[in-house]
Amino acid sequence: MGKDSLSITDNRTGKSYEVPVENGTIKALDLRKIKLTDDDFGLMTYDPAFTNTAACKSRITFIDGDRGVLNYRGYPIEQLAERSNYLETAYLILNGELPAKAQYEDWIRETTHHTIVHENIKELMAAFRYDAHPMGILMSTVAALSTFYPDAKHIHDAENRQRQVVRLIAKMPTLAAFAYRHSVGMPYAYPDNDFSYCGNFLQMMFKMTELKYRVHPILERALEVLFILHADHEQNCSTSAMRGVASSEVDPYSATAAAIAALYGPLHGGANEMVLRMLHEIGSKDHIPQFIKDVKESGGEVRLMGFGHRVYKNYDPRAKIIKIMADQVFEVTGRNPLLDIALELERIALSDEYFVKRKLYPNVDFYSGLIYQAMGFPVDMFPVLFAIPRVSGWLAQWAEMLQDKEQKIARPRQVYLGQPRRDYVPFDARG
Ligand code: CMC
Repeated sequence: MGKDSLSITDNRTGKSYEVPVENGTIKALDLRKIKLTDDDFGLMTYDPAFTNTAACKSRITFIDGDRGVLNYRGYPIEQLAERSNYLETAYLILNGELPAKAQYEDWIRETTHHTIVHENIKELMAAFRYDAHPMGILMSTVAALSTFYPDAKHIHDAENRQRQVVRLIAKMPTLAAFAYRHSVGMPYAYPDNDFSYCGNFLQMMFKMTELKYRVHPILERALEVLFILHADHEQNCSTSAMRGVASSEVDPYSATAAAIAALYGPLHGGANEMVLRMLHEIGSKDHIPQFIKDVKESGGEVRLMGFGHRVYKNYDPRAKIIKIMADQVFEVTGRNPLLDIALELERIALSDEYFVKRKLYPNVDFYSGLIYQAMGFPVDMFPVLFAIPRVSGWLAQWAEMLQDKEQKIARPRQVYLGQPRRDYVPFDARG
């Protein structure tokens, strides 16, 4: 093997440069020494949407998009989905190792004892219209938490950070369930410490007048698995938002609200909601060929939601697990009639040259919505169900960034193509 460096010849000047290669990357700043003249700014890279730029070094999540591999802290997602639960996986993601028994018990106790939100949060919720999207409510109430916990701004104090991590992970299901109950005009159901993390969330969502809600163990387990699958996914849009916003050293509640905003978009966490709406619109298997034709002829405008991924150019490993789990859930809830449309859509798309050529496979959102719907969650809640577990990933990435000496406030460069300097023109002289 040769040297770990890159030789670059600038054909504009004929000069040659040697740039070190480390971890399969070159430092973008090393390119700045490539200049036309001494007062030239130097070369930059141009990478809209960061398709080929690593913005950090991370030890949290590994994805091999070509092979369809996803590991958290080295553990394959399939093993975690089969053997772990969400809170244990969150601990792993946040701390780097699976917890020892005593650590696990402490973690469960802490996250269980911080589930209640300040009563004023309820008044904030009450101010939203009856039909407010729960993701908007979640985003706003998470941002509001920063005013309830002003100590959270001491982000360089590890103990303080841990306090906010516990609070956020513990309170997310409460805020999410309250947002839902507000939207259907039902009284809030308070957290109940007798339940597991997912069981408690289900009781806060669906408890009616019964004294004690009964959680179906298969549905509880299905939610655990879905939460594990959504816990982290390295440098995606919302995680980049979390890191980018938090790099200004704002408190974690404000940064998490920004990450929730990024997740809300239909190309990211809003996709599971869009999949359901798309399946509804297609309406029957007979309409699938026409829909596929519309997608192909739209020049990218109409998308097959739940298909394609920036990183996976193979079957999303999370989609594989969800697809298998769907059968267990449907045995309890009854089969979601949209499943047949989804299965047929997948079959046709995976044998269609358009999708095959572009390596478009089902992603995590393709089947998750069908399960959520069968469990009784309204479509509006789907992105919220993504946000709850993703908080553990966002917070792990946040803490990693704060401890990374190479990181500073995020501040990309631009290529300016606008007008050169010109003088102000008064109204009467404008054309
Ligand atoms: N349906 C139809 N065509 C598609 C789709 C799709 N779902 N996704 C990509 N393409 C086409 C796209 O039009 C382009 O075609 P061409 O080369 O002819 O211009 C080609 O495939 C490459 O697409 P791209 O937009 O360059 O790919 P990207 O890496 O920028 O986009 C994506 C990734 C996830 C935004 C995109 O695949 C998409 O919009 N999918 C639908 C939305 C979705 O399901 N999002 C959830 C992502 S997984 C959950 C998460 O982590 O957020």
